[in-house]
Amino acid sequence: MSRSSIHARPVPGGRIAYVNGRYLPHREACVHVEDRGLQFADSIYEVCAVIDRRLMDEEGHLDRLERSLAALAMPMPMARSALKVVMREMIARNRLKDGLLYLQVTRGAFRRDHAIPAAKRSTLIATMRSFNLAAVAKRRAEGISVVTASDIRWGRCDIKTTGLLANALAKTEARKKGAFESWLVDRDGFVTEGASTNAWIVTGEGVLVTRSLSPNILAGVTRLGVLSALAAHGANAVEERVFTVEEAKSAREAFITSASGGVLPVTTIDGRTVGDGKPGPTTLRVHTLYSEFAQATAKA
Ligand code: PDD
Repeated sequence: MSRSSIHARPVPGGRIAYVNGRYLPHREACVHVEDRGLQFADSIYEVCAVIDRRLMDEEGHLDRLERSLAALAMPMPMARSALKVVMREMIARNRLKDGLLYLQVTRGAFRRDHAIPAAKRSTLIATMRSFNLAAVAKRRAEGISVVTASDIRWGRCDIKTTGLLANALAKTEARKKGAFESWLVDRDGFVTEGASTNAWIVTGEGVLVTRSLSPNILAGVTRLGVLSALAAHGANAVEERVFTVEEAKSAREAFITSASGGVLPVTTIDGRTVGDGKPGPTTLRVHTLYSEFAQATAKA
């Protein structure tokens, strides 16, 4: 892949990355060949949307980062307050109004050995890239297609590790079939979540359904934001429960949530039209309520 093809749009003055205390031109940023993040996916990450230079759901992402680290007995690479400074510095140095801020914490570089070393060190990296808001808006207006795939991931999908090979394979299958996302399906035929999004349906009665939190799914920060926004408005009833692919295909509406896309309507699942095949009113209302909530809680 050419260097330019991984850059959505050039950042004026060039992209800046952060690696262990240093801000560097993106192309010069690198980590040690023995880093456990590289060797064992012994690392966790977060993706946070930046809109109008403000961080969306910052506390939610930092809460989850701390939870992921704690689950793996990894230390915070620095105090939360210092991490917030790095995040703001990245927005300023990359001179981006709208973008996606990526943070990754690894257990650091050690002589390769499966057993986790007792010594505490870590690698912290941050990158940022521009966010094509127009492309997201187009997806929201047109709706997206989803295909289904077996969920072949490990048993701790609640930890946001960089061990994303199964997710990457599922997403690739979706792209090959002309779809935007894959919904992963467990052994009992229930949808767990998308390859990089949480999955929702709207029943014929207007009830919003999304899978309850467990080690089988990632606790999406956007999912939580949607639940909070809905609760604050006393809007639609929500059921946190499992649903089958069949129930999803015959649902009135379906949508996905993530930091990078917000709320996006699903209009086909495995080629079958959901509802009338257009982004539904409930989904668009959820999008509006969540956007208002996210804007109100966004931090400069
Ligand atoms: N993906 N489920 C999975 C498996 C995810 O990877 C993500 C996020 C989500 C949605 O979580 P959130 O609302 O906190 O973004 C659900 C990010 C965006 C990524 O991997 O790029």
